[in-house]
Amino acid sequence: MKFSKLVQPGLDKGVKHTGMMSEDPTLIKFSIGNPPPEGFAVERIRAISDRLIAEEPNSLLNYGTAGGRDDFRDAIRAFMNRRVKVINDEDIITVTSGGQQGISFAIQAFCDPGDVILCEDPTFMAALDMFRNLGAKPVGVKMNDDGIDLEDLEKKMQMQPKPKLLYIIPDFQNPMGVSLPEWKRKEVCRLAYEYDVPVLEDNPYYELRYDGEFIPLLKHYDEHGMVGLVSSMSKIVGPGMRCGFVAAPGSFGQAIANLKYSADLHTTTWAQRVSCELLTHDMEKDLEGLRKLYEHRGHKMQECLAEYCHPDVHFTHPQGGMFIWVTMPEGTDMDAFLKELDDNRVVVVPGKRFFTDGTYQTPSFRLSYSLATDEEIEKGIRILGDLTKKYCK
Ligand SMILES: Cc1ncc(COP(=O)(O)O)c(C=O)c1O
Repeated sequence: MKFSKLVQPGLDKGVKHTGMMSEDPTLIKFSIGNPPPEGFAVERIRAISDRLIAEEPNSLLNYGTAGGRDDFRDAIRAFMNRRVKVINDEDIITVTSGGQQGISFAIQAFCDPGDVILCEDPTFMAALDMFRNLGAKPVGVKMNDDGIDLEDLEKKMQMQPKPKLLYIIPDFQNPMGVSLPEWKRKEVCRLAYEYDVPVLEDNPYYELRYDGEFIPLLKHYDEHGMVGLVSSMSKIVGPGMRCGFVAAPGSFGQAIANLKYSADLHTTTWAQRVSCELLTHDMEKDLEGLRKLYEHRGHKMQECLAEYCHPDVHFTHPQGGMFIWVTMPEGTDMDAFLKELDDNRVVVVPGKRFFTDGTYQTPSFRLSYSLATDEEIEKGIRILGDLTKKYCK
């Protein structure tokens, strides 16, 4: 069989499990960024589902409209705007199959094959894979401990041919765990307008803040209709719901809505209906519980890193979300370090998976604490820390 160019490079994706996803219970997996099952509102979801299936089976099981149910879209708008205005009255909300489908629509909306898409370097690896699969050329923008480097961003926005889109994760970034301060959010919006580069803000971890004050989403600062927001229920309800959305202004929002219609008609009506009930009743209580879970694990991992690692090891200090980015001194033999870590049954994600240049020999790797117990964090980070002392010269 002769497959298309789109399929060729990724034939084994989604089928083969790498060590990163292995089910082996003897591994300590700091590699997987899945939400913790103990954070799922199982009883609430069961009760809502039972009631709705009895009361309105047709609305749960029949076809819906392409862009999503009106009640769910209203609930998203109210939820996202409950602190400050993020989604404007004229923005179009399209419900998607997870945020991931929303990202793919934004790429398709702006990028023809060969077009440049700017992104943080490092960035979310599934987005990177998708940019490439859809023929867009990712160009990375440097990162600092407070998010995207504005000088480098401005330089890259001036590139010729002109970049078609900026993809950015402003809160608890995947993989670095860092967040953009307010002044940088304003600057990103200003630069987007000045250089006429639309922005896709991907913000699935926003509600998982456990330290510091909430900073309004990037889209809040957009005065010129340049920013579309993609997010989902995945990190606040469960990724199995496959309920995401894109909220975008004018023709940006319309392009996403059109792409959704031609892609798959609509998203699961059951999950939209249940998500709508969750968002409009007692959501704050669920979020409080989730934040406590992440706070405990995030603090524990940061404390253990500080205690067990060589002092030359740098790690980020996330105020929410689930990731920490660890950087060894330049020149560390990372292949040997990661191999020895693996031999000791501790799994992390090598940093090069997240860079636009996949061959870049970065001295960094990503840790996730979302699924880790206290014992696993204590044991795994002690092993990791001891190895950093062996490899830092
Ligand atoms: C930054 C980022 N964006 C998007 C997604 C996709 O989430 P979903 O498609 O489940 O909404 C993830 C998942 O891990 C992510 O980390």
